[in-house]
Amino acid sequence: MKFLVTGSAGLIGQNVVQELLKQNHEVYSCYHEDKPTTGIPISLDLTDSTEIKKIMEKIKPDTVIHLAAMTKVDLCETEKELAHTLNVTATEILAYEAAKISAFFVYVSTDYVFDGKDGMKKEDDAPNPLGYYGKTKLEGELSLNNLASNWAIARTSTPFGNHSKKKSFPLWINENLKSKNKIRLLTDQYTSPTYVPNLSKMIIEIAVRQINGIIHLAGASRISRYDFAVMIAERLGLDKTLLLKAKIEDMNWKAKRPKDSSLDVTKAIEILNEKPMEIQKSLPLFIEEITNQ
Ligand SMILES: NC(=O)c1ccc[n+]([C@@H]2O[C@H](COP(=O)([O-])OP(=O)(O)OC[C@H]3O[C@@H](n4cnc5c(N)ncnc54)[C@H](OP(=O)(O)O)[C@@H]3O)[C@@H](O)[C@H]2O)c1
Repeated sequence: MKFLVTGSAGLIGQNVVQELLKQNHEVYSCYHEDKPTTGIPISLDLTDSTEIKKIMEKIKPDTVIHLAAMTKVDLCETEKELAHTLNVTATEILAYEAAKISAFFVYVSTDYVFDGKDGMKKEDDAPNPLGYYGKTKLEGELSLNNLASNWAIARTSTPFGNHSKKKSFPLWINENLKSKNKIRLLTDQYTSPTYVPNLSKMIIEIAVRQINGIIHLAGASRISRYDFAVMIAERLGLDKTLLLKAKIEDMNWKAKRPKDSSLDVTKAIEILNEKPMEIQKSLPLFIEEITNQ
């Protein structure tokens, strides 16, 4: 199948492209600033609607996996116009162009569409984003309703994995503890950490099988940031006394974040061959991956 992937050099995108290539798909890797080293690189500035149309008409993919977004939650509060252009307008145009050529459209969305008052949210629970990032990602989701039925929304949570440039949460913990830095971790913020290779396989399965609708593609465990960090320290044999407990109200963030944005992944467990992994299974796989490098 012919895939067009946006955000192909990002934390999730880099692995999605690698996995697509392993599965022998033809992959067009769209990027803005960071040219990817895998797939067929295509420069595409998603703030330029004419360029989006031109590239979609030229490549005519069978499937689009749309990962590109303004993902910095605090930056979205101060750069609202750009956040809206990237997360909403670009999604609308891409999805519209995909519908015109009957391409299946996978939009990767976020646990931050929920307010986090309670967790383990199901696909049909009502979203209520707290910050501008979540608001724009939700607006991106809603724009798909105006299109043909050939789309999927895959919401994920705290992705972690290996990346050539980006350091996800476990690597950040590893680095700080190795340098004997004390770090503050939230005991009252819960997510569903998602191992990127597991996520990539689930996204691709959704795309290949053309599974329509909203689906939560996240890890199968709900855990606080603090407990996740303790688990990482223990697995790596590092000093967990350097991990200091903090509360969400202690943080001086611009954007409000949900306290419990864990996702219920029962639907994915029931219908996918690639199942969401428990953290007890995925974290050792990640640690093995980084220690074998
Ligand atoms: N990371 C998380 O915690 C998280 C959690 C839940 C959901 N998600 C969702 O998952 C998706 C992927 O996240 P990620 O963490 O892999 O993202 P990321 O590493 O932050 O990468 C963002 C991507 O967006 C691209 N991009 C930014 N501005 C662009 C522009 N003007 N034109 C074209 N591309 C542009 C970047 O391309 P260049 O580098 O080439 O500029 C980059 O590849 C996002 O949609 C996000 O909302 C992420």
